[in-house]
Amino acid sequence: MDPFWTSLSKYEISGYSIRSLTKEDRDEIFEFLQENSDYFLLENGRLPRDTDGQTFVTDLPPNKQPSDKFAISVDLDHRIAALVEIVRDYPEEHIWWIGLLLIHPSYRGIGLGGRICRLLEQLVCLMRGNEIRLGVLAKNIPGHHFWKRMGFTHIQTKHGMVIGEKTHTVHVMAKLLEQSASQKELTF
Ligand SMILES: CC(C)(COP(=O)(O)OP(=O)(O)OC[C@H]1O[C@@H](n2cnc3c(N)ncnc32)[C@H](O)[C@@H]1OP(=O)(O)O)[C@@H](O)C(=O)NCCC(=O)NCCS
Repeated sequence: MDPFWTSLSKYEISGYSIRSLTKEDRDEIFEFLQENSDYFLLENGRLPRDTDGQTFVTDLPPNKQPSDKFAISVDLDHRIAALVEIVRDYPEEHIWWIGLLLIHPSYRGIGLGGRICRLLEQLVCLMRGNEIRLGVLAKNIPGHHFWKRMGFTHIQTKHGMVIGEKTHTVHVMAKLLEQSASQKELTF
C-alpha cells in the first residue's frame, strides 16, 4: 500500500471515517456531486453527469501517474460528507496540490473543512512535502476566504483556464509547511 494511505489510516477526524475512493465508488461520487451541484455548476458550467463520478477518481494533472493521486472520502453514517483530491509532487517535487475539497452543503460552516485541511497539512509533512498549493476560482469568494483563513496566500493568477464548459480566472494559493509540525496530533 502507498505510504500515504498507510499514514492516513493512522489519522482520524472524530465522528467521521476516512476512506480511499476507487472507480467502484463512481455512482456514490456522482450522487454526491449531484447534491453539490451549486459548486459543480460554478466550476464546470453544467450539472454533473454519471461519468463525472469516475472522472473524479481517474482525472490527473499533466505528466502525473495514477499512483500520485489520492481521492479521499470523509464519511458520516456511511455516506460521503466531503470529497478530497490531492496530488503528490505537483507541480514540483515536495509540493502537494489539492485538486478539490468539497464539503456537502449540510456540513459546511461547522469546522469540517478546517479539520480536513489541518489533517492534510500533517499528512503532507509526514510525506516530506514542504508546501501545499491549490487553485481557487476567482468567482469562488467564500472558498477564497476559507483558504486565507487556513493560512494560504495568493501566489499567482491564471487567466483563461478551461474547466468543463467554462473559462475561469484562477487564483493559485500556497502554504509553506513547517517540517517541525507536531505529528503527535492524530485526531482532528
Ligand atoms: C470552502 C469549504 C471547503 C469550507 O469548508 P467548511 O467546512 O465550510 O469551513 P469551516 O467551517 O471548517 O471553516 C473554517 C474557517 O474558514 C472560515 N470560512 C469558511 N467558509 C467561509 C466563508 N464562506 N466566508 C468566510 N470565512 C469562511 C470559517 O469562518 C472558519 O474560520 P474560523 O476558524 O475562524 O471559524 C466548503 O464550504 C465547501 O466545500 N464549499 C464549496 C466547495 C469549495 O468552494 N471548495 C473549495 C474549492 S477551492
